[in-house]
Parts: sequence; C-alpha cells; structure tokens
Amino acid sequence: MLAAAGSLVATIWAALHPRTLLVAAVTFLLLADYFKNRRPKNYPPGPWGLPFVGNIFQLDFGQPHLAIQPLVKKYGNIFSLNLGDITSVIITGLPLIKEAFTHMEQNIMNRPLSVMQERISNKNGLIFSSGQTWKEQRRFALMTLRNFGLGKKSLEERMQEEASYLVEAIREEEGKPFNPHFSINNAVSNIICSVTFGERFDYHDSRFQEMLRLLDEVMYLETTMISQLYNIFPWIMKYIPGSHQRVFRNWEKLKLFVSCMIDDHRKDWNPDEPRDFIDAFLKEMTKYPEKTTSFNEENLVCSTLDLFFAGTETTSTTLRWALLYMALYPEVQGKHIVTIPDRAKFFFWNLWLREGQKMVQRKGVA
Ligand code: HEM
Repeated sequence: MLAAAGSLVATIWAALHPRTLLVAAVTFLLLADYFKNRRPKNYPPGPWGLPFVGNIFQLDFGQPHLAIQPLVKKYGNIFSLNLGDITSVIITGLPLIKEAFTHMEQNIMNRPLSVMQERISNKNGLIFSSGQTWKEQRRFALMTLRNFGLGKKSLEERMQEEASYLVEAIREEEGKPFNPHFSINNAVSNIICSVTFGERFDYHDSRFQEMLRLLDEVMYLETTMISQLYNIFPWIMKYIPGSHQRVFRNWEKLKLFVSCMIDDHRKDWNPDEPRDFIDAFLKEMTKYPEKTTSFNEENLVCSTLDLFFAGTETTSTTLRWALLYMALYPEVQGKHIVTIPDRAKFFFWNLWLREGQKMVQRKGVA
C-alpha cells in the first residue's frame, strides 16, 4: 500500500512541469498574503497595496509627513496603510488624535515596535517598552527626574548656566559663519546629562562629541529606505551590508558609553546619597530580588540611553529649526533679542537647504 502511494507521488512529481510548480507556489503565496491582510468591515479605508510589500513604494520616506497629505485628502483623517509586514492605522488632526489618546487609551497603550527597534532595545527601557516594564520604568523615571530638579528652579538655573556657555561658544566664532549643530546638541544634552550622569560635557570633549554624532546619525539612518527594508525583510536584510548595519553598530557604541558611565558610578557609589539618575537606579536594583521587577542592568542602560536620546535630539532639532526660521524671517528675528549676522544667514541657508528649500523658494531668496 505504502509502496503504491509512494510510486503514485513519484509519478505525479515526474509529470509536473517546473513551470506548473512555480505557478502553484506563486498562487499559494498570493492567496496566503490576501488572507493574511483581510480586514474587518469597519476597518479604516486605505490605498490598495502590492502583494507582500503593501504601500511601501507609494510613500516618500524622505518626507513622510508630506507624502501622506494626498491620502488624507482622499481618505480623511483616519486611514490604513500596509508597510510590508507592518499594518498601520494613521490618525491625523488634533481633535481625532486627542479623542484616540484620551478615550481609547487602553487600546493603544502599548508601543508598536519595528523589527529594528526591537533588536536595539530588546523591549527594555522607557521608549520601546510596554506593559509592566514600561509602567515601572516610567513611574521611576518621572519620580527621579523630579527629585533631581525637573520642573523646578534648580534645573532652570542649570539651563541658564548652560545657555551662557553656548553663547560664549558662539561668541568665540567672532561673527564668522560656523556650524552650530553640535554646539546646540551639546548644550541641550548637557541638561539631561546633568540629571542622568551627574555631569556636563565640555563642547570640545571629543568622546562626547562622537556620542552626539552617533546619536544624530542613527536618527537619520533609521528613517532611510534601507532601514525600512530591514524592518520588512529582516531575515534577508540582516545578511546584506548597508547603512542599516551602521544603526546597530552605533547603538552598541552608545550602550557601551552608558555602561562605562555606570561602571564609573559604581566605583564611588553611596546608596544614601544618590547623585543622579544612575545612582538612584542602582539603589532601586538593590530593593527587589532579581527577576521580580524590571530594575536590572539592561533596563538601567536602556532607560538612561532613552533619556539621553529623548532629551537631546528633540529639543536641539527644535532649536535648530527656530534658528533657521529666524534666519529666513529677519523681521521676526528683529523682534527678539537674538540677532543672526548676515554672513551666518547664508551659512544657515546652505546648511538646511534641503529641509528649508521650499521656504527659501517661497521667500524668493534662493
Ligand atoms: C521639543 C522637545 C520634545 C519633543 C517634541 C518630544 C516629543 C515626544 C514624543 C512625541 C513622544 C512620544 C509620546 C508617546 O508616544 O506617548 C515623547 C516621548 C518621550 N520623551 Fe519627549 N519630547 C521632547 C523633549 C523631551 C525631553 C527634554 C526629554 C527628557 C527628559 C524627553 C523624554 C521623553 C521620554 C522618556 C519619552 C518616552 C515616554 C514614554 O513612552 O512613557 N522628551 N517625546
């Protein structure tokens, strides 16, 4: 009986043409993709996508905020997109965003992670964690940041002191064109560093400047097309060289930097006198038996790095945009105390030409 079945399979196999096999395999994959992507009736509308890759080639990842505008016009303030394996619902417009975050908080509380973010964070820390880890880390971070001055006069004074260092660094340029990018990053970062590491870093500290550069680079590289391809096809892309590999290398270097800072703290750590976030976290780690909470070495590194990252990139990018706007709108600049010399304006135009191109053209000063 078995032998008969075996010979029947062998006969069918021999009769099958490779082209037939290929057509069958493709049909199977297309059907599997179709059934996998079937959505409930009340699912938000969205553009048709290609099999397997979805809408990925319909978006300009260089300017995603502009690329979605035609879709908003067509489908309204809530619509769906398929980016390879990632199913996403886009919500735009303040009232709708407010409604989603205030009334449906329970449904959208967890943090969706890209494959890249998951590999980098292993779901640890503040930004990329969810559930119990996120609750513990967030509560602890908020409490500790407050204890070390967040929202208080003491931190405001620290900021004013740092601002005076930045003004001094700008003055040292003697009105000549210069790139303010990393001085601003350094100044902004020093505020969060004084809370997390208990120290500020000089603008000429080459090691710290390198950390800022790595941070800046990962921010940019994580949004490139090749990184999006890694998120969609990680099983292939992890073997392929490219700038997405540099993202992982950079994060490892950043983690190593934080680990070294933690080791330095351990050398003269006094649990009764916590000096900063790291000291307070080390104390928290001693309170609970291992593995019962998220207060472990991995979360210490990731939460510290998250604060460093979130407290540096966001505010310094905002400040750089503010400078660009002031350079482009001198009448607004004139209303404020800060003035940007004419020659520096040309530098800013060149520096941010890509981002500011449209504004420059609108103002007719290109
Ligand atoms: C212009 C300045 C800033 C902007 C525009 C900004 C924006 C954001 C946004 C949009 C989120 C995501 C919120 C969410 O998904 O729930 C976030 C989260 C976060 N930000 Fe900021 N941020 C800024 C400054 C800072 C600073 C200075 C710090 C440092 C203390 C910081 C620390 C964090 C942390 C730790 C999170 C994760 C919170 C969580 O998931 O619980 N941010 N920020």
